[in-house]
Amino acid sequence: MRTDAKHSAPALPPLPLSSKARRTREQPISFLISTALHNPGLINLAAGLVDPLTLPVEECAQITRELFADRARGRAALQYDTTAGLRDLRRELLAHMARLEGVDAGTLGFTAEQIVLTTGSQQALYLVGDALVDPGDIVIAANPSYFVYTGTLSSLGANVMAVPMDEDGMDVEAVATLLAGLEREGKLDRVKLIYCTSYFDNPTGLTLSLDRRKRLLEIVRGYSKRHRILIQEDAAYRELRYDGPALPSIKAMDPENRYTIISNTFSKPFAPGLKLGYTAMPDDLLHAVLQQKGNHDFGSANLTQHIALQALRDGSYTRHVDVLVASYRAKRDAILKALDRYMPKNPGLTWTHPHGGLYVWVTLPERIDASRQSTMFESCIANGVMYVPGEYCFQPDESGKIPRNHLRLSFGQVDPKQIEPGIERLAQVVAQQMSEQSATSTLAL
Ligand SMILES: Cc1ncc(COP(=O)(O)O)c(C=O)c1O
Repeated sequence: MRTDAKHSAPALPPLPLSSKARRTREQPISFLISTALHNPGLINLAAGLVDPLTLPVEECAQITRELFADRARGRAALQYDTTAGLRDLRRELLAHMARLEGVDAGTLGFTAEQIVLTTGSQQALYLVGDALVDPGDIVIAANPSYFVYTGTLSSLGANVMAVPMDEDGMDVEAVATLLAGLEREGKLDRVKLIYCTSYFDNPTGLTLSLDRRKRLLEIVRGYSKRHRILIQEDAAYRELRYDGPALPSIKAMDPENRYTIISNTFSKPFAPGLKLGYTAMPDDLLHAVLQQKGNHDFGSANLTQHIALQALRDGSYTRHVDVLVASYRAKRDAILKALDRYMPKNPGLTWTHPHGGLYVWVTLPERIDASRQSTMFESCIANGVMYVPGEYCFQPDESGKIPRNHLRLSFGQVDPKQIEPGIERLAQVVAQQMSEQSATSTLAL
């Protein structure tokens, strides 16, 4: 008897994905990377990557040679370490953080024991969210914000509520107003975290002013009534400072280590390939985060931690930051100069002038759509330049609306020689969009 396998095979029952997997959206980064790969020759002003030409290859070659020339050290580096990470490195990082604050390590309010080493700072952000947020809990962030983390928070089921920002960073008075409203509605108990990229923000390049740092902490203390609300300070770009004052962190204003978490990374000031971050946090949160991390991976890559330790000890880390700062400062200057030169002059068309980091945030007249689905985005790809549509960085307002007239430009990865032609191509498309839009509005009159 003939059986037709195609017809007799039972239908494949569906896969019962968890509610978290169903809540989790693809990060826009995948789409941006695949667009870049499918369009070689594109000038990529979208990639948030660091400059390949300045990666510390020689330094890391020297460090690993030394490390493996010593059998005992080599063996230690190839073995597991603890969940919190290499103690010597955490001690070294405590001293490093004190240097950045310009204070003695003893006055920081935390010790090496309250620092956790993670697989990039992204893992720390994730673990903190995981340890604090139940579905329906509230996290307050700026509009716009680092879209990877707001995506993570949404996948955890958080209700991400956004406040506006301006040249001085997150509008902290809007945070106070929001908290007051939530208290009136009996929802203060749901507020767990305030997320803030305090230095040279991704995506805007802007920095939270000194006064606002102090005020945000004061607000959080004031509203920590039945439970503590924590500030998650993301300092990923702190060391890439090109001019302007070196501000103290919000963490440094919390000498009892009660209300603030600060996350740092080796990715931006040294090498993302190490994928190593370090976060200082209050003791009771640390315990919960370490338990989560114990369940994730019981410790980040130890070899990476040994390399970072040696780079800090032998001075190559600091020397490398100096090299990066000089190189990115020149690229920042080049992108701002090119924007000035090529962008159409219009009062509705502005951009930020960052003092550090890797990003410039461009605001177009409101009627111009720069979203991923827009003809402007398509025309840019056709014209050989790519940006990050700003829509990814926003939470919707009460009516569900997201602004579509912003774009994030990065001068991190792009070859310095391509900055000017990249901006020229972008400006051509912007000018064309603006003239088409004004022609349409004239016709409509
Ligand atoms: C603001 C911000 N925070 C955190 C991260 C995470 O970086 P990593 O996990 O490599 O430390 C990034 C990466 O681009 C970032 O832009």
